[in-house]
Amino acid sequence: MSPQPNPIYVALDTADLDGALSLARTVGPYVGGLKVGLEFVSAHGPQGIRQIVALGRPVFLDVKLHDIPNTVAGAVRALADLGVAIVNIHASGGRAMMQAAQEAARGRVKIIGVTILTALDDADMRDIGMTGSATEQAVRLARLAKASGLDGVVCGAPDLGAIRAACGPGFLTVVPGSRPAGSAVQDQKRFMTPGAARAAGADILILGRPVTAAPDPAAAAKAVAAELEIV
Ligand code: C5P
Repeated sequence: MSPQPNPIYVALDTADLDGALSLARTVGPYVGGLKVGLEFVSAHGPQGIRQIVALGRPVFLDVKLHDIPNTVAGAVRALADLGVAIVNIHASGGRAMMQAAQEAARGRVKIIGVTILTALDDADMRDIGMTGSATEQAVRLARLAKASGLDGVVCGAPDLGAIRAACGPGFLTVVPGSRPAGSAVQDQKRFMTPGAARAAGADILILGRPVTAAPDPAAAAKAVAAELEIV
C-alpha cells in the first residue's frame, strides 16, 4: 500500500441494507471510505447509518442539506452524533446557513459544501437562471464555503484546478461521478477518469455505479485502486 491515504469512497446507493453491508465488506480492501446518500438514508435512517459506521471505515454522509440556518444546524447536531466523518450541505444555502452548520458540528464532523452537481452542465446553469459557466459558479460557491468556515467542497473534476487556485491547499475537495475509461457515463455530465481527477488534485473520489453495478464490484474497486497506484 502507498503511504498516501486511499482516496476512493464507494457510494452505497441502495435501499437494501444487507446489500449495502455486503457491498461495503466486498470492496473494503480497496477503498479508503464509504458514502451513504439519500437512497440509503431514506430507507434506513439513523439506525442504518450506525450499521455502516460500525464497519469501522470513515463514512461520508451525503445528505446535501439545504434549509434555513436554524434547521440545518439542528440536523447537523443530530447527524454528528452518528459517528460519520463528513456531512455535506448545499453551499447555495448561503453564508449564514454554512456558518450555522459549522458551528453546530463543533469539530465532531467535517462539513463540506456542494458547489454544482456533476449532473449539471452549462446549459443547466442557464435553465435555472445562473449566469456564467458551471465552473465559474462552482468557484464562486467554493470561495463562499471557505469564507464561511467549511472544511471543503464537493465539486466536479473539471472544476478542481480553479477551485484549488481560489481556495488554496488544505481545503478538502471531494469529487463524485468519476468514470473509469470505457465505463458508462449514465446521468453524469462533468467527469474525468479516477486517475485524471486525482492528478487534478481531488482528495476524495466518489465511485458509484462503475463499482457498485459492475458484475464483480471487488474487481472494479481493485481496478480503480490499481489505476491510482495504491494496490
Ligand atoms: O453512480 P455514480 O458514480 O454516478 O455516483 C455518484 C455518487 O455521488 C451518487 O451517490 C451521487 O448522489 C453523488 N453525488 C454526485 N454529484 C454531486 C454530489 C454527490 O453525483 N455533486
